Amino acid sequence: MTDFLLSRRHFLAGTGALAMMPRVSFAASPEALTARVATAQIAPDSYPATEVYSYGGQFPGPMIRAKQGERITRELVNDLPVPTSIHWHGIRIDNAMDGVAGLTQEAVPPNARFTYDFAVPDAGTYWYHAHTNSMEQVARGLYGPLIIDEIDVPDVDRDEVLMLDDWRLNPETAQIDPDFDFPMDRSHAGRYGNLIGTNGRYGYRLSARRGERLRLRLINAANARIFGLKLQGLTGWTVALDGMPLATPEPVDSEIVLAPAQRVDLIVDVTAAEGEEAMILRFDDDEQWRVQVGFDLSGITAIRDTASAPLPPNPGMEPVDLARATQLEMRMEGGAMGNMPMGRMNGQMMGFREMVSGGMYWTLAGVAGMEEAPFASLSKGEHVRLKLINDTIFPHAMHLHGQHFREITDGKQGPMRDTLLSLPGETTEIAFVADNPGKWLFHCHMLGHAATGMTTWINVS
Ligand code: C2O
Ligand code: CU
Repeated sequence: MTDFLLSRRHFLAGTGALAMMPRVSFAASPEALTARVATAQIAPDSYPATEVYSYGGQFPGPMIRAKQGERITRELVNDLPVPTSIHWHGIRIDNAMDGVAGLTQEAVPPNARFTYDFAVPDAGTYWYHAHTNSMEQVARGLYGPLIIDEIDVPDVDRDEVLMLDDWRLNPETAQIDPDFDFPMDRSHAGRYGNLIGTNGRYGYRLSARRGERLRLRLINAANARIFGLKLQGLTGWTVALDGMPLATPEPVDSEIVLAPAQRVDLIVDVTAAEGEEAMILRFDDDEQWRVQVGFDLSGITAIRDTASAPLPPNPGMEPVDLARATQLEMRMEGGAMGNMPMGRMNGQMMGFREMVSGGMYWTLAGVAGMEEAPFASLSKGEHVRLKLINDTIFPHAMHLHGQHFREITDGKQGPMRDTLLSLPGETTEIAFVADNPGKWLFHCHMLGHAATGMTTWINVS
């Protein structure tokens, strides 16, 4: 009897291993990434599962992982009832693969397919998400982690992706609130959720050993929420922002601010002593610190006595030549309680009220939404500085596709990023080398703002 059980178990283990083997790939048949409706247990177990839009039935979508310099090929199969497309956020990509419906490709209709095939020049933490009606599709679950490993990976015991999000769920049914057009969200801070979680789950926990060194890849996938985070029982360094390595790791000794779409890579040691807890805390809406990610601790290993080494630099991280940079300026205006600017919409100048009745609440450089002509036409290799004047009473997370930029503070260039948090009333300046040819979006990653005016584009040729 025992023998039978044993052999049966071996048999099962055997088939399990087989199922996990990569499917034999015939020439030119890329791995599918199927967008389809699925359910996920987002809310605590006492609530029903939530219907989501998913990639491959998973929420968040499956981790897509490659080594720096490799190619990634995925065939988007659209089994959703709506058109969609995928953007590979933060990757300095071939423009044709950028996934922006209406700019770099047509949205992929239901039952159709589109093959994404691109090189990944940079190591780091990126993510992919829908870029067709993103305001709704990302909130419904169309996103996942995109991780590019360094050729020489850093010395850590564990590498964990933590995708932070909030969901607006009906408190009885746990279903996603389908009112994506709610003007109050669009004209104010954006669509905030009433349930906050990590990796598609409320109350997400990880296990770790005391003394272990962890690489934590935090990704803010929320529609509009800015996360303020701090560590407890974990001690370490910020080693990368928005995928790009810092020249020198920075000790984490204050609050980590993560705006929508931003990422931070931490390398931390589990320093919680016996009887102490380790967690990532967030500053919640009621101004209390709450657990964002809890750690179940076991055992003990010796804490490393060396600081984390910097990650190897990515290519093309040279600073911008500010002296010869083309100077551009962009004023952000609009929103509730703002100065009600005039704006151009579909090529027509109009007053703010008229804009609002056309569904627009915001302008970038006096324009609401996409126009035929780009905000700037740059030549390949041009050095640019862009002054951003936030003339609204809301924060905005400004994201440039296709290239990273550096924030300029007192003439000094900060770390490379792809998304900048611009605070109300603040003027900031970013600089970049326009070295990637194509049509690139520049938009607010508060996705309700992007949908109602805060989206423009630049052309690099
Ligand atoms: Cu993360 Cu235009 O997107
Ligand atoms: Cu915004």
